[in-house]
This record gives sequence, structure tokens and C-alpha cells, in this order.
Amino acid sequence: DAVDKGTYPFFMLKEIDEQPAVIRRLVSTYLGERDDYRFDPQLIAKMAEADQIYIVAAGTSYHAGLAAKQIVEEVAKMPVAVELASEFGYHLPILSKRPFFVFLSQSGETADSRQVLVKMKELGYPSLTITNVDRSTLSREADFTVLLNAGPEIAVASTKAYTAQITVMALLAKALGQKLGTDDGKIDLRSELSLAANAMQTIVDNKEAIEGYAKEFFETTPKAFYIGRGQDYFASLEAALKLKEISYIQAEGFAAGELKHGTISLIENGTPVIALITDQATAGLTRGNIKEVEARGAKTLKIVSENLAESADQLVLPAIASVLSPLLTVIPAQLLAYYATIQRGYNVDQPRNLAKSVTVE
Ligand code: G6P
Repeated sequence: DAVDKGTYPFFMLKEIDEQPAVIRRLVSTYLGERDDYRFDPQLIAKMAEADQIYIVAAGTSYHAGLAAKQIVEEVAKMPVAVELASEFGYHLPILSKRPFFVFLSQSGETADSRQVLVKMKELGYPSLTITNVDRSTLSREADFTVLLNAGPEIAVASTKAYTAQITVMALLAKALGQKLGTDDGKIDLRSELSLAANAMQTIVDNKEAIEGYAKEFFETTPKAFYIGRGQDYFASLEAALKLKEISYIQAEGFAAGELKHGTISLIENGTPVIALITDQATAGLTRGNIKEVEARGAKTLKIVSENLAESADQLVLPAIASVLSPLLTVIPAQLLAYYATIQRGYNVDQPRNLAKSVTVE
């Protein structure tokens, strides 16, 4: 039974563990033997006619959209705007001439996203829903659907949907880049996603280390920060959301360079700051920011890709193309949130005040 916890104490842990298999399944579903992308050709043709892609989403799906923007722009060279559904529908920016709308929604039922889809359809704009639930409302109402095929996600805190959404967007970016002739081929997606799946497996196979860091950093703290730059910043937003939604630690994801412009005043003796470092161009700058918070008493946990690692870094991740790094950096963050929640005695799968899918605006 797909919605059975099996031997797992919580769905969230099962769903974290499923991520390598989800990535591999997406590659075998959407990437053919001869590097042909198996998406509806009409979908790719419509996307290729656009001058800008608008990704509309909420919550974790919004964070996946932020990571996806960098991938689409790097691979297909098409500009992407990422919009919060609850804001966008009521405060429409000036749109590009030929927008294409992508709705990212695990459930396909989020009312905030749906109101945008309804309005954009009225305006005659083409749309795609990327969802885990076939025949869901957003899937039925958009022009096209691409499925995440991640299997049911039961835990309220979304995990495998985030990595599946980024993976599908990367596959779509490749298909679009091929169609437009804009992909420079620098990223061999089949091999990168295979590396990513293997690396995810390595991380989930070594949970004990992360359980130990959860205890060391999160056992009693009322607050915590995740910091990073570029993709590491966007992953930090998701990492902080995971921690706060289930462990109730007040956590913030922050652009590493921005902390000193105000928020650093919150750093006290022992405040946990978790730094994500996977981008060569900014690694040194983020290390500088780590020193700044350490000088104010912060306790730092460094999550670093192996090509940039230094001896004092606690968690070293296998290196993959840096634009795909959120696929990896999010895994220890998910596990840290999971263990912090267990250690603090809360129900991981059913946090207070939250619903898996929110069908009111
Ligand atoms: C709810 C869930 C979040 C989710 C968000 C968007 O708030 O608790 O985990 O990210 O909705 O959901 P969707 O199904 O549209 O991705």
C-alpha cells in the first residue's frame, strides 16, 4: 500500500528516504534513451513561443520555483519570474508580451494558486500545472499537466515534492533549451541527476550524524538562521521553513550578505547559524559572513559541497552542478528539522495550525 508508513515512525522520514528513487523515476519517465525529452511536444512548442515564464506557487512549491528559475535561465536562457500566488493575483505586475504560466503545486488544490490560474486563463495566457496529483483542480484547469510521480506525500511538511518539482523543471528547461537552440550543453542532466540521486542516498544513509547535529544545535534554542547565497539562499528559505513548521523553532532563511544589514542584531551567544556553501564564486564571501556571526557568538554548522570543503566543515556533500545544489542541500535540512522535532517531542507529520492542502484564500 503506497500510503502505508511501513517500518517508519513517521511519513516524513519515509518521504525523505524516497527522494533518490523519485529522481531516478523522473529521469526514466521524462528523458528518453537518445536524450529526447518525453514531454507533450505542444507544451514545449507553447513554452518556446513565450518571452518569459511566470512560476506561480505557495509555500514549499514557491521555494522550488525560486530554485527552478536559476536552472531555466541557465539552461534555456529564458527569463523567469517567480511569484507568490496569494500576492500575484491581486497585484498584477506589468507582464511581458508573451507570458507562459507554470503552476507548481504538490496537491493541485491550493486556492491561492487557483485564483491566479483562473485570472490568467481569462486573459488568454497559456498555462502548465506541475503537480503530484493527476486530475487535481489545477491539473484539470490548466492547458497542460506534467506529473511529479512522487507517490502520495502524506506528511504536512513537504519534502519529496520539492526535489521532484526542481527535477521536473530542470528536465523541462533542457527540453525547452533544445527546442530553442539555447542550451549550451554545459550541464549533462542525465549524469548530474544520477549523481544527485546517488548523493541523496549517501546523505540519507548517514542519518546518525545529522541526528547528532540536530541535538547539538536545536535542542533548546528558540531561534535559528540558515544563510547562503544564490541557490544556497533559496535552499536556505526552504530549510528554515522546514525547521519552523514542525519544530516550532523560529527560523529564518537569509541571504548571507544581507544579514549584516540589520538582522545580525539577533545573533546572541549560542544562536545557531547554518550555512550552505555550494557555489564557488561566493563561497569565500559566505565564509566571511560566518566569521561575522561567530564573532557575535553564533554557533555555526557548515553544510558544504566537497569541492569547496575545509577541514572544520561538519557536513560535506558530494559535488554536483552548482545550479542543481538545492536538490542536495535540502536533504540534511529536512533531516535536521525531522530530528529536532522528535527531540523536542512534537508530532512530525501533523504540526499544529497547518493543513496539507489549503483550499481557502
Ligand atoms: C500548504 C502546505 C505546504 C505547501 C503549500 C502549497 O500550506 O502545508 O507544505 O507547500 O500548501 O501546497 P501545494 O500543494 O500547492 O504545493
